Amino acid sequence: MSGDSLDAPTADASSAGLLQLTVAGIRYETHDVKTFVFRPEEGVPAYAAGQSMTLKLQIDGETLFRTFSLASAPDVSGTIAMTIKAHAKGRATRWLHDELVVGARLEGRPPKGRFTIDNRTTDRLALISAGSGASPLMAMLRHLAATAPDTDVHWLHAARMPRDILFAGELAELQARMPKLKVAMLVSRPEPGWFGFSGRLGRRLVSVALPDYGRREVFCCGPAGFMEEARLIHAAEGGTRELFHVEHFGAVAAVAPPPVPADAPAGGYAVTFGDKHFTAQPGETLLQAATRQTIIIPCGCALGMCGTCRVALVEGSVEMRHEGGISPEEEAQGYILACSSRARSDVTIALQ
Ligand SMILES: Cc1cc2nc3c(=O)[nH]c(=O)nc-3n(C[C@H](O)[C@H](O)[C@H](O)COP(=O)(O)OP(=O)(O)OC[C@H]3O[C@@H](n4cnc5c(N)ncnc54)[C@H](O)[C@@H]3O)c2cc1C
Ligand code: FES
Repeated sequence: MSGDSLDAPTADASSAGLLQLTVAGIRYETHDVKTFVFRPEEGVPAYAAGQSMTLKLQIDGETLFRTFSLASAPDVSGTIAMTIKAHAKGRATRWLHDELVVGARLEGRPPKGRFTIDNRTTDRLALISAGSGASPLMAMLRHLAATAPDTDVHWLHAARMPRDILFAGELAELQARMPKLKVAMLVSRPEPGWFGFSGRLGRRLVSVALPDYGRREVFCCGPAGFMEEARLIHAAEGGTRELFHVEHFGAVAAVAPPPVPADAPAGGYAVTFGDKHFTAQPGETLLQAATRQTIIIPCGCALGMCGTCRVALVEGSVEMRHEGGISPEEEAQGYILACSSRARSDVTIALQ
């Protein structure tokens, strides 16, 4: 965790470029999940299995930013893939599912994120996912299959119904190539003919599906409540916090803010964001201040992990405490994460 104070950028913040992506393929995974394959014009960027990318989408005259994990393994195929669930009322995911066609072009920020298999410290792994949370874990498994097929991996995946299970066919194929890969499926709404686990994630179920869970290093992705349950069971089985890694797909309650500095003005600081002006109260993050005033800054995790809320700090200074969602290079270029930054003077920020 960093606790840097940043001053105005020393380099042209617009120099960090977006990738130009052409849709090379689209396939259904389930009735409401599709995998989109993209060919980056600049060639596939360097990334680690488990990282994510933020797409810049033009929808109905509005620019939306949405972050998606890369489901593909880093390789030399020349393409990258994202496995995306269409949310019934989701603006971006509905548009991607309904409007995006092969040959269309999009822009995206380079991959980033700390939720990567490269950060593992052991080779006895548990992958725990629910719903589209399987996506970054599939990238990890594909990468392990290509580079270390003997790795001891147990995967527990939870879905609503059997028809919602992602990657079932490929997992069966990978089991043939990875002798120590074990896969368990859990559905909350079983149907006749279902032979896997059913019900909710719980300690008793885990003790059967993953008997040595507490002794494994865990990579977990799914809804916040599911991940918290998985973490509690891991801890109860003797697992340590350092061996439990999570990726949040949606915003969760913000972490406790640092104490308000004694010299902060009671009225807060003035923030300029493009043609909008608002006030950041003492202790508030720039994202919280903008949201309170119904000004939209793109947001993914709200925890300083995903980088979706990256903005350029054009003027002024902030205190930033993040969780790896921004690289030292980006910080040096004058970028900050709005969800993790508190104003320390009047500031001007820009979306780039
Ligand atoms: C690091 C990261 C990686 C991600 N990777 C993936 C991925 O690989 N595949 C994928 O499908 N999504 C992924 N997401 C989630 C994705 O960014 C979007 O938030 C989500 O797809 C909804 O976008 P939308 O514009 O369609 O919905 P919005 O218009 O933003 O929201 C519409 C409705 O859906 C609800 N909603 C929004 N996001 C979620 C969510 N994640 N879960 C449940 N309900 C939600 C909202 O509360 C709202 O009611 C990831 C998010 C992050 C931060
Ligand atoms: S929203 Fe994820 S880093 Fe700010």
